[in-house]
Amino acid sequence: MRMGRHILALATTMLVAVWSTHPLAATPSGEVIAHQGDGSAPACTGCHGPAFQGNPAMKAPALAGLASSFILARLAHYAGPTGHNPAMRAVAQALTPADRQAVAQYLSTLPKAPR
Ligand code: HEC
Repeated sequence: MRMGRHILALATTMLVAVWSTHPLAATPSGEVIAHQGDGSAPACTGCHGPAFQGNPAMKAPALAGLASSFILARLAHYAGPTGHNPAMRAVAQALTPADRQAVAQYLSTLPKAPR
């Protein structure tokens, strides 16, 4: 049994190594994007507030608890030809489709802003 366990440990190590170098790992989680950006797009907290409850000084509305389909639609709008908001245009155009999905999904799980 000793030998079997050793092989299992080795297999696990190899699996973790393959997992972490897989291209899918290049997409940061929605939580990371929202708080730290994705390397090209800035963090959403910078304008939308630390808990995504909105920031009137930046004219940035609350994002917490919005439906992910709504967030995705807004990002597509800002990135497209009819999106004229300069702040969100830059953000939306910098996000990859996978990053938009991830960040929209994450924000939709957060508690809505108190009114
Ligand atoms: C540089 C400041 C800035 C940053 C950074 C920023 N936003 Fe925004 N965002 C704004 C502003 C300003 C608006 C309001 C634009 C308008 O009036 O349409 C907005 C609007 C939005 C809206 C529309 C909300 C609604 O109720 O219509 C979404 C969705 C959104 N932002 C998502 C994000 C996400 C996701 C990130 C991070 C990846 C992000 N924003 C980062 C400034 C910013």
